[in-house]
Amino acid sequence: MTAQSTFRASAALDAQDQNVLPLPHATAEAVPDTMVKPGRLGAHVQVDALTHRYKGMSHNCLEELNFQVEAGQIVALVGRSGCGKSTLLHLIAGLMQPGAGGVYINGNRVRSTCPRWVVMFQAPSLFPWMTVAQNAALGLRFAGRTQEIPKRIPSLLAMVGLTAYADRNVQDLSGGQQQRVALARSLATEPDLLLLDEPFSALDAFTRRALQQDVRRIAKELGLTVVLVTHDITEAAIMADRALIMAPDPGRIVTDTVLDPGADRHRDSPAFEAERARLAALFETTA
Ligand SMILES: Nc1ncnc2c1ncn2[C@@H]1O[C@H](COP(=O)(O)OP(=O)(O)OP(=O)(O)O)[C@@H](O)[C@H]1O
Ligand SMILES: [Mg+2]
Repeated sequence: MTAQSTFRASAALDAQDQNVLPLPHATAEAVPDTMVKPGRLGAHVQVDALTHRYKGMSHNCLEELNFQVEAGQIVALVGRSGCGKSTLLHLIAGLMQPGAGGVYINGNRVRSTCPRWVVMFQAPSLFPWMTVAQNAALGLRFAGRTQEIPKRIPSLLAMVGLTAYADRNVQDLSGGQQQRVALARSLATEPDLLLLDEPFSALDAFTRRALQQDVRRIAKELGLTVVLVTHDITEAAIMADRALIMAPDPGRIVTDTVLDPGADRHRDSPAFEAERARLAALFETTA
């Protein structure tokens, strides 16, 4: 898989469904000096009667999934290994097509990938011979939007805390810093949906916590909808507004719960710990 295909979507919506709903920021103007767009809406996601079976398998990987994600909401998909979390994320992204049912983003049936929704994986997939700024600009370059690079990349690097590293080669960066470059690259094309497949799991605990809090802050500032796949209950409690707990064989959603761990979402606060413990107990009894 190329670096391009691992992080960036490239095609479009099904033509026959194009007119179901107006696209949310077709008329969005460029905002100088900041990535924040007050009033901008993230994507609405609807998963409708979704069933999927891999070729050659005797049973369904996912069966009859039905849920919606509101614009601007951060949803964690939590489940044990093999329950179908990545498969579901790939189906939402349009990286593959379901056997039955469908995914609708802003009312449009997803038939393939699209630059308005981006996927971040565990490995940052950067080009090692390029600088931080050049890697961050790749999405814009691939989209033919090179004129936006001088304005957008500095503010994006500031947002992810890498201004001082702009001209450094990415090979000189730590794993956490490289994942921040991947985040800047994902955000550069102004997606309205961020799909995260355990993007912090290879990082040390301290770096992971910092990124979890930063990604939530950035998503809220930008009004992004986020679907986050994770094994980590604490990660879900820190980052998500809502958790969908999945069970395996066949993969399905068994619990849908709103998370309210206190305003600061700080690991040491009693409200956070109570919410984390509630989610952990739900996971143990249902997953
Ligand atoms: N390409 C494939 N062909 C056949 N079966 C597959 C394929 N990819 C995944 N599977 C199977 O589908 C099921 C769900 O896999 P998936 O990768 O979606 O799980 P997951 O919840 O993301 O697991 P993990 O937490 O380990 O990443 C597993 O049983 C897996 O073996
Ligand atoms: Mg997975």
